[in-house]
Amino acid sequence: MPLRSKITGTGSYVPGTVLTNFDLEKKVDTSDEWITERTGIKERRIVKGTEATSDLCLEAAKNALQAADIKPSEIDLIIVTTMSGDMPMPSTASLLQKKLGAKNAAAFDLNAACSGFLYGLSVADNFIKGGTFKKVLLVGAEVMSRFLDWKDRSTCVLFGDGAGAVVLEAAKGKRGILSTHLYSDGSQWDFICLPGGGSLNPPSSKTIKERMHFVKMKGNETFKVAVRTLEKLVIDTLKQNRVKSSELAMLVPHQANLRIIKATAERLGLPMSRVAVNLDRYGNTSSASIPIALDEVVREGRVKKDDYVLLEAFGAGLTWASALIRW
Ligand code: COA
Repeated sequence: MPLRSKITGTGSYVPGTVLTNFDLEKKVDTSDEWITERTGIKERRIVKGTEATSDLCLEAAKNALQAADIKPSEIDLIIVTTMSGDMPMPSTASLLQKKLGAKNAAAFDLNAACSGFLYGLSVADNFIKGGTFKKVLLVGAEVMSRFLDWKDRSTCVLFGDGAGAVVLEAAKGKRGILSTHLYSDGSQWDFICLPGGGSLNPPSSKTIKERMHFVKMKGNETFKVAVRTLEKLVIDTLKQNRVKSSELAMLVPHQANLRIIKATAERLGLPMSRVAVNLDRYGNTSSASIPIALDEVVREGRVKKDDYVLLEAFGAGLTWASALIRW
């Protein structure tokens, strides 16, 4: 029997404040109709006051640990996937470790933008299969709202805040993570980026004046590459595992745009009842979107023992990734 990693608990958390498309109509030149038609988003959640990424991580992690029935002290490794951590240093994973009291864990952050959670899943899976760690807490968490230009209608309507978490444990048998697939094309780094605040453009009055501390996106160009890339990605992932799309119980896609999600589902011949969708309520929560959606379908009982579940994402880098799980 091969050693695999199995998801033994899921959890998620979104902040309480709801920002609707109608609220945005009052901030920028947009409309509920445009946002709904072009993206599928109706509202998103936004942090308040001093709430930061590690706070969202903590709530999602507590839910996942409870579902897995393990104590914080049992965790060997914490990975937080994020592009919007509390601060550049230390890692948000270290801050979460303190808040959670997970004294025996190693901790680090991983940034692959919207594909981050699946990159983290692959890293966790390989640590477990290699025998380095037995119990890994993986959290995808973002506070996108603090990195959005609330004067730029082409980006500020798209994103939201939230966190999702999974506990991965070593297990023998045919159930668990079957494969992960990671890809990147850095030549198109400028399709989606946040240019200010790093070593290239450190914070200055110029970076603030030129609004470089906010997410920039070439939306339409990204859209076209995303549709093409994801269609090939999901077909290749199933082929490599000799699984037919008719055998898939659930597709859990990154939640960037309903039109992209529908195109991928159509390519697989999957009815939308077998696709996890929550961007209408949360918008694009970047690396948090897949673990939040996964937690929802698990808690709704839409994923059962032995089911095939396919996860896929596309985002800045450009990066894209997938994972096939036998639940
Ligand atoms: N409200 C109203 N009009 C808006 C708007 C808004 N919030 N944002 C843009 N527009 C306008 C544009 O100015 C443009 O007007 P013009 O034709 O007069 O120039 C028009 O709407 C069309 O813009 P375009 O960018 O071509 O729209 P689109 O159909 O491509 O939709 C996105 C834009 C961002 C929703 C879509 O391209 C998308 O989802 N891209 C992919 C995102 C993604 O997958 N990212 C990776 C993960 S983060």
